Amino acid sequence: MKRSLHQLARPAIAPSVLASDFAYLADEIARVEQGGADLLHVDCMDGHFVPNLTIGPVVVEKMRAVTELFLDVHLMLSEPARYIQAFAEAGADNITFHAEVASEPEALADRIHELGCAAGITINPDGPLDLVKRAVPHVEMVLLMTIYAGFGGQRFLPEVLPAIRQVRGWLTDEQRLEVDGGIYTGTIAEAAAAGADVFVAGTAVFGAADGDYGRSIADLRRAAAAALES
Ligand code: DX5
Ligand code: ZN
Repeated sequence: MKRSLHQLARPAIAPSVLASDFAYLADEIARVEQGGADLLHVDCMDGHFVPNLTIGPVVVEKMRAVTELFLDVHLMLSEPARYIQAFAEAGADNITFHAEVASEPEALADRIHELGCAAGITINPDGPLDLVKRAVPHVEMVLLMTIYAGFGGQRFLPEVLPAIRQVRGWLTDEQRLEVDGGIYTGTIAEAAAAGADVFVAGTAVFGAADGDYGRSIADLRRAAAAALES
């Protein structure tokens, strides 16, 4: 049974395993799960849409076996349609694809739903938002990249803030708006004030100087909640 996006807290914090120590993946996942993560963000890169190569369905399947967390799968693949079934069967709860490589985003979202998953659409900071707008009625979540997809540890791009405000205006209360890249306690507040309510954080969680992932997650949640309430 797939997990539902609607049951997630608002704000929701999604640690990105890209920043974890892959030699101890199960332990890293357990530490963020015990630390209060709402989702686990899984960055899948094909070395083509982005220069980096990361996680495939075989790894997602192993992750699924060790956690109850919602698996939020971010496909950075040139041909997402070829792989969505494999990721759904591996245990993804949500599958997000890039608008830049989806000629028929509505059909792709419908296919993701047929496979039992929630669907998300995403775009890089320079991508035309029109591509996202037409898909909005077909998805449960929009993910706005606040860096250029490909690597963790980059700096948050504040020029995306107006796009966050604009996209929030297109969404229903049920739909979620996620941001990804360069999220720390300062930038999470800016993104939350603009209308985001799901926050991917790689370095800010797994790179915590004291190794206390629970405290990092709580700090992020507090900063986002304060901005959402104000
Ligand atoms: C990059 C990924 C991000 C990345 C974020 O393409 O989509 O999810 O892990 O990492 P931080 O939080 O370190 O910017
Ligand atoms: Zn991501």
